[in-house]
Amino acid sequence: MWAVGFWRAALSRAPCGCRSQSAVAQLRGILEGELEGIRAAGTWKSERIITSRQGPHIHVDGVSGGILNFCANNYLGLSSHPEVIQAGLRALEEFGAGLSSVRFICGTQSIHKSLEAKIARFHQREDAILYPSCFDANAGLFEALLTPEDAVLSDELNHASIIDGIRLCKAHKYRYSHLDMADLEAKLQEAQKHRLRLVATDGAFSMDGDIAPLQDICRLASQYGALVFVDECHATGFLGPTGRGTDELLGVMDQVTIVNSTLGKALGGASGGYTTGPGPLVSLLRQRARPYLFSNSLPPAVVGCASKALDLLMESNTIVQSMAAKTQRFRTKMEAAGFTISGASHPICPVMLGDARLASCMADDMLKRGIFVIGFSYPVVPKGKARIRVQISAVHSEEDIDRCVEAFVEVGRLHKALP
Ligand SMILES: Cc1ncc(COP(=O)(O)O)c(C=O)c1O
Repeated sequence: MWAVGFWRAALSRAPCGCRSQSAVAQLRGILEGELEGIRAAGTWKSERIITSRQGPHIHVDGVSGGILNFCANNYLGLSSHPEVIQAGLRALEEFGAGLSSVRFICGTQSIHKSLEAKIARFHQREDAILYPSCFDANAGLFEALLTPEDAVLSDELNHASIIDGIRLCKAHKYRYSHLDMADLEAKLQEAQKHRLRLVATDGAFSMDGDIAPLQDICRLASQYGALVFVDECHATGFLGPTGRGTDELLGVMDQVTIVNSTLGKALGGASGGYTTGPGPLVSLLRQRARPYLFSNSLPPAVVGCASKALDLLMESNTIVQSMAAKTQRFRTKMEAAGFTISGASHPICPVMLGDARLASCMADDMLKRGIFVIGFSYPVVPKGKARIRVQISAVHSEEDIDRCVEAFVEVGRLHKALP
């Protein structure tokens, strides 16, 4: 009965169908033009297809043999850790594939609450709220918290999700030059007329591996009555003596008010993000943050994996220390060979090459030698600052690190990037 009605209605709409076909043809034309523009600008991003688990040794479609992987955010190697996988499987068995619901309708399970409590404990904050991703945590925070009476001051190189989150809010917006404390101070002086002032920064910046000067930021924030927000995606789990993040590394855990971070990098690498901070802020986010209110609950398997990753980190900091030692090994050997590595001590090790073509050709030649690294050039990084970004993981062996350095030296000489 229903099917007959459907087809009758569809046939009676046939003339509109022709119009919609021409609209689709027009759309195709526009899209082809856009895609051609991206190709012509040399900014086309292609994806390599991995046919194995994430890890230091992977298999890539179309490439024979194993590949040494140096371009994942798998800083602690927990993406394929046996205990993490087991915890995910157990949660899948016990709590099912998913909730078919948002949190406030019927999508909150006991494991969501205990993971939130664990995250707050890990960061030594009052409370935490989970999101489907950190992109969502950044999209939800500013709009829910700040009004037109308030101001947000943001580092110009903050992650795209912070920029988008800030765009969504109605607060006055100030952008300060990257890591420039004199500029931040000038902007804080201008922003004194507003009710709240929130300084927003990445803890570690993913293109350069450089770290926000949080001690100076917190000092200025205190001087000018501002709050500090830090995105810790490239710090949670591994920066600082016990892996709490940039605020622990720089001794300002009690001065950073709000932390957003991801479960999709060091903490098991599946997906998910969160905000942790004052209890009333987290309560407000549960009432107002749109990506929390209008998107599905985090799947139990993801919650199980992240929860185990945090347990492993809270039990011992051996994995954190192992990653730090391997990072140091790579940086020292590469610098001794004559390469310039940007940033300091971070497992993001950008090998600075300058020329875009050189970076891309060297990355291709590294892959021919079985090493997977990615070249970055304009517009992802400034013109003339092309680089190959290497990311170290705790599960790289010392031999893996040495093989990577040897390949860089060989390829660098071949392309005259080294004498
Ligand atoms: C600094 C920063 N913030 C936020 C995100 C988004 O995190 P997620 O993958 O959890 O959405 C990323 C991911 O690349 C990031 O690097």
